[in-house]
Amino acid sequence: MIPKISTLGGYIFEYQKSVTNPTGFWSNIADSFYWRKKWDQALEWDFTKGHVKWYEGAKLNITENIFERHMFFRGQQPAIIWEPNDPSEAHRTLTYEALFLETKKFANVLLASGIKKGDRVAIYMPMVPELVISMLACARIGAIHSVTFAGFSAQSLSERLQDAGAKLLITSDGGFRGSKTIPIKQIADEAMGSCKCVSKAIVLRRTGENVPMLAGRDFWWHELMENSSVENAAETMDAEDPLFILYTSGSTGKPKGLVHSTAGYMVYSAYTFRNIFQYGDGDIYFCSADIGWITGHSYLVYGPLLAGATSLMFEGVPTWPDAGRFWEIIDKHQVNQFYTAPTAIRSLMALGMEWLESKNLSSLKVLGTVGEPINEAAWHWYHDHIGKNRCPIVDTWWQTETGGIMISPYAGITPTKPSYATLPVMGIQPMIVDPEGKQLMGNSVEGNLCIGYPWPGMARTIWGDHDRFVKTYFSTYPGLYFTGDGVKRDEDGYYRILGRVDDVINVSGHRLGTAEIENAINEHPLVDESAVVGFPHPIKGQGIYAYVVCPQFSTGGEEGIRNSIMLAVSHMIGPFARPDKIQIVSGLPKTRSGKIMRRILMKIAEGKTSEFGDTSTLLDPEIVNEIVKGSESIR
Ligand code: PRX
Repeated sequence: MIPKISTLGGYIFEYQKSVTNPTGFWSNIADSFYWRKKWDQALEWDFTKGHVKWYEGAKLNITENIFERHMFFRGQQPAIIWEPNDPSEAHRTLTYEALFLETKKFANVLLASGIKKGDRVAIYMPMVPELVISMLACARIGAIHSVTFAGFSAQSLSERLQDAGAKLLITSDGGFRGSKTIPIKQIADEAMGSCKCVSKAIVLRRTGENVPMLAGRDFWWHELMENSSVENAAETMDAEDPLFILYTSGSTGKPKGLVHSTAGYMVYSAYTFRNIFQYGDGDIYFCSADIGWITGHSYLVYGPLLAGATSLMFEGVPTWPDAGRFWEIIDKHQVNQFYTAPTAIRSLMALGMEWLESKNLSSLKVLGTVGEPINEAAWHWYHDHIGKNRCPIVDTWWQTETGGIMISPYAGITPTKPSYATLPVMGIQPMIVDPEGKQLMGNSVEGNLCIGYPWPGMARTIWGDHDRFVKTYFSTYPGLYFTGDGVKRDEDGYYRILGRVDDVINVSGHRLGTAEIENAINEHPLVDESAVVGFPHPIKGQGIYAYVVCPQFSTGGEEGIRNSIMLAVSHMIGPFARPDKIQIVSGLPKTRSGKIMRRILMKIAEGKTSEFGDTSTLLDPEIVNEIVKGSESIR
């Protein structure tokens, strides 16, 4: 059993120990796992080179820690409860034994398809149990999975397939999302058509639509599984062998394929899951995140399954068939821990109290949030109306790069404060630095958030580009990992995340690089250039505001060009990256050296049109007045 902290005194005591002796702490946690061979050295690291190795010399397979390790006691316990998009369709329950069987069978399908240890397998699927089976089957044979969120466009998928050099793509005919049916296979076909590496696709039947199957390339999941053997011995993996690649946005246009290791990720995701949510035997845990993002990887799949939990997975959206869907699921399955994003809370809060009227919610013990800052009003609504004033809220701060939760209350143990992620997880050493890199000691300080010491769950590199890894995370403040977030440490030593300090924006909990959106807008044939900034949005947290230089828009006038820019962004990235506001401008505010003054554009987007600070370096101050004037009609 993974050790669990159960009192505040225990947290304080253990935390001190964990930062004085991190390797001792993480070796002790690792002892509760099954290793084919134990490690020779707990940690080897050099942040200046972006070099981190945990549990060097150890041999293991992560799926043995999910299945073989749990089978004796938990074979008949539900591992996954799957709730479909349409409430009138039956839910599915896969026990640990059933999930194990399917994983072994699909592992054999992958082997028979020519996939070997170290090969990359891409996954582009809706939220169905077969997505989990696909990931675990990859891990079983040592293939590296790379899941792409099924809201991404063909172009984004194709970029990711090529970057990872994926040999095989696992996908589905389509997917259900609320009232919509998503043509997943069609998007996958377009993506595969523009990349050479993928030679085979395995297609799950979900919507039953007629989809073209390319002979020799596309194969049906159910046909391959039909005669697949249930015997499969797990591959032996080294501690540092990559488990998966997951793409995320940064401040440049090209998404980064972050690589997570096998052993360190395993220990960290499981430890944090059990401790932060205070999961106990028999509990039903529901994480509403999509597996296409890191939250789904760490806290729907790996963390819970490694901890022997029952993880509830939901295919649909919180507002369909009505805005009571989450609460109905919680009552139906008697959910004990519920983990979601502030954006979902805000949108449900805005839809009114009537959706809560007939809901009981008494099974709930712990509530969690992730992905973006939670404002106080949403925190209180969640606390009072969902948690009925008796469930602690864990506001968990972390990132795709960190692999698991870094700063968060331990549920029911750490006293909470609305909108504060509170205190660090064991072994995590947050540091606040000023722009010059000077560490700000003590309490009541504000600056950039760095981490001063490695933890097992951290990403090890960017796939195919270690230099970029070092440059992005370890060069701004040499010797420290730089998160890209601003933070405040208050008078009690509690941490409050203030948001990104780089060109990354967080829209409905989706992380997007402004450069990525600009690249998509600039692809439009009538656009000369553009600048994208975030602005405060009551539901999404941040909205997307695009200033677009478009000297000769043709038919359809401004409205027409706006619509076609939206389409271009949907096509290049995905519908979730569409700007909320597009302002056509004749030029952008630039310095004499040609740099766009985003600070000014952010203020205008926020509606603060008289607080521009120093504008003496502006090449053409008149353009600012023009943009301010034009912005009035955008509101
Ligand atoms: O800005 C922080 C914000 O989300 C960023 C990480 O995004 P991503 O890699 O997509 O991972 C999201 C899920 C872990 C962070 O740099 N963020 C995440 N959690 C919080 C948060 N901001 C404030 N409070 C949080 N609890």
